[in-house]
Amino acid sequence: MPQNDNVLVGFGYKDDAGVYKINDDTCLIQTVDFFTPVVDDPYTFGQIAAANALSDVYAMGGKPITVLNIACFPINEIDKEVFNLILNGGLDKIKEAGAALLGGHSIDDKEIKYGLSVTGICGINDIYSNQGAKRGDVLYLTKSLGTGFVVSAICTDFLEKETLDEASISMSKLNKYASELAVSIGGVNAVTDVTGFGLVGHLSEMMIASGVSCEIYLQSLPLIKGTVELIKRGINPAGTKRNRKYFAAYTAVKNGLDGNLLWTAFGAETSGGLIFSVSHMKASQFEEAFKNKGEPLYKIGRVLDGGVKDGIYIDIMKQNITN
Ligand code: CO
Ligand code: CO
Repeated sequence: MPQNDNVLVGFGYKDDAGVYKINDDTCLIQTVDFFTPVVDDPYTFGQIAAANALSDVYAMGGKPITVLNIACFPINEIDKEVFNLILNGGLDKIKEAGAALLGGHSIDDKEIKYGLSVTGICGINDIYSNQGAKRGDVLYLTKSLGTGFVVSAICTDFLEKETLDEASISMSKLNKYASELAVSIGGVNAVTDVTGFGLVGHLSEMMIASGVSCEIYLQSLPLIKGTVELIKRGINPAGTKRNRKYFAAYTAVKNGLDGNLLWTAFGAETSGGLIFSVSHMKASQFEEAFKNKGEPLYKIGRVLDGGVKDGIYIDIMKQNITN
């Protein structure tokens, strides 16, 4: 693929968004994401789709400045009001992000789809990337896991309203607050957000890009209340099974772990949280700052410096695995 010297993060990087240098101080961040409804309420779906699309800019440490709507909609079959509610949900998140909606494009389609193309900016030396995790770093996650299982259970009669509400609030939440707080503290060596590939998938990509391995403490993973019950009931989305199969090449699982709980580490997420790989020297300050702001932050593992493994071990070379 022809490259351009101004492309700092491009197509082959498997990072959250593309980054382009526009001058010696500033770079442009670009990303696009859209999908079919994950919840029944159109306004909430709009919020989730927008929060999800904006997330990749936050995962790069940037600030979203402009967005474009992307919408597919069965014009003759569904009430225009549904369409307006979706766009309004999105708009409210765009406003909360402080970005400007410049326009968009919609087409007639059998299935509803909505999302955003997002442009952000970032100081040239402040870009967060998924490379850079270092031995001894502490790994943190900012949102609970389980959204994929909850979304898959929406058409069942055993999904508790409480569980759906918790998932909807989580998916609608912008990663803005966690990202800005992290930028202000410093000490962050690598960042990515958790979406379709699940925790292990996105963490594997970070480890591969950084050339290190890590361990995850399965018992410490934050979960949306009721997630394990859904798994026990047989909820297991195709994307989650795919993740586990695909990322098996990079993971070793300690014997004797709870089989139901284990699936949560591989669950495909929608609009999930950020994973921060933080220098252990900064870890306590990082935790303190999140606590003071009332922002959730969960310690989920560490980048290995040759220690004992616990829980899920992501080893990019598949060495030293003695299961
Ligand atoms: Co991402
Ligand atoms: Co994305």
